[in-house]
Amino acid sequence: MGEYTRRKIMQGGMLAAVTGPLAAGAQQGGASAVRPVAISSANGLRAVEKAMEMIRGGADTLDAVIAGVNIIEDDPNDSSVGYGGLPNEDGVVELDSSVMHGPTRRAGAVASLRNIKNPSKVAKAVMEHTDHLLLVGEGALRFARMQGFKEEDLLTDKSRLAWLTWKARKFENWGPGLAAPDADQKAGIYDPEVLAWAREVAAHPPTGTINCLAVNERGDLSGVTTTSGLAWKIPGRVGDSPLIGCGLFVDSDVGGAGSTGRGEECIKINGAHTVVEMMRRGAPPREACLEAVRRVAANYRNNRKKLEQISINFYALNKRGEHGAASLWNTSGSGGRKAQYAVNDGGQSRLVECAYLLER
Ligand code: GLY
Repeated sequence: MGEYTRRKIMQGGMLAAVTGPLAAGAQQGGASAVRPVAISSANGLRAVEKAMEMIRGGADTLDAVIAGVNIIEDDPNDSSVGYGGLPNEDGVVELDSSVMHGPTRRAGAVASLRNIKNPSKVAKAVMEHTDHLLLVGEGALRFARMQGFKEEDLLTDKSRLAWLTWKARKFENWGPGLAAPDADQKAGIYDPEVLAWAREVAAHPPTGTINCLAVNERGDLSGVTTTSGLAWKIPGRVGDSPLIGCGLFVDSDVGGAGSTGRGEECIKINGAHTVVEMMRRGAPPREACLEAVRRVAANYRNNRKKLEQISINFYALNKRGEHGAASLWNTSGSGGRKAQYAVNDGGQSRLVECAYLLER
């Protein structure tokens, strides 16, 4: 019996007792049918749908989750990932991604990658074509070029506007950018909604990201995390997404986990690894995610005022197909949307509420 399970039973907790431990090897060779499922951060409704479609068609779970997040990487309207992602302080989009393939226990990652809109595919190429794990910056770009990836400008008009708005806000005497958005709005160049969004992200730099995890009927698991990272970051800043054990971790004996939100906080607690280790000891996925969130809060002695600056979410899927997620806050700071994650277990993709630690 896992340590977590034992402790919960002694405390009278039933949930973990029912779920039971997922110790290494506990399910090895288990041909017992798992209900295939894909989960992701809330921006991944289309990603989990695509991943499940591929898994039902017999695709490998890593190919499935990568194809899922590629839809979001390609989408200019998701400003936290790939093409259209918010840039660094110089106005250059720098992308981070990692992948883990449960069946072969391999991983690959890239960080601070410019000009390539699908860093998740480059991360997979690192896994497949090198005996390295993480390539960064210029080296990652050269590798991507060698592998035949196409270079393109990843800044869209919308993300450029947000960057100019941030510049104008930060540097009050900064060139024509200061007046341009307002003047252009009067001229009808910018949709007022887009301008309001640009002001919001200029004032509160977001850390979006997509994490996607999937298991097939054999219990094979894989995961991917991909992001444009913290908006307006110092060039070269790397968050949790490309770091194995932080923004992503998969152990095929147990399950997988990922994170979105403030990467620095996730790195400090080795978030995804923490979640998987909690599941190994018997914690249900949702409880394992809550424990990671508690550790983030503990790093600030649970000081509510300090934690108000932080948004962070964890997602978990065990090899039995059970899943859960937890957020630090019940709602996102901007707009007050409920903390949710996306699930597809064969039907229509849906959003499910995350557990949370604090209420706004
Ligand atoms: N979680 C994404 C980042 O902080 O870069």
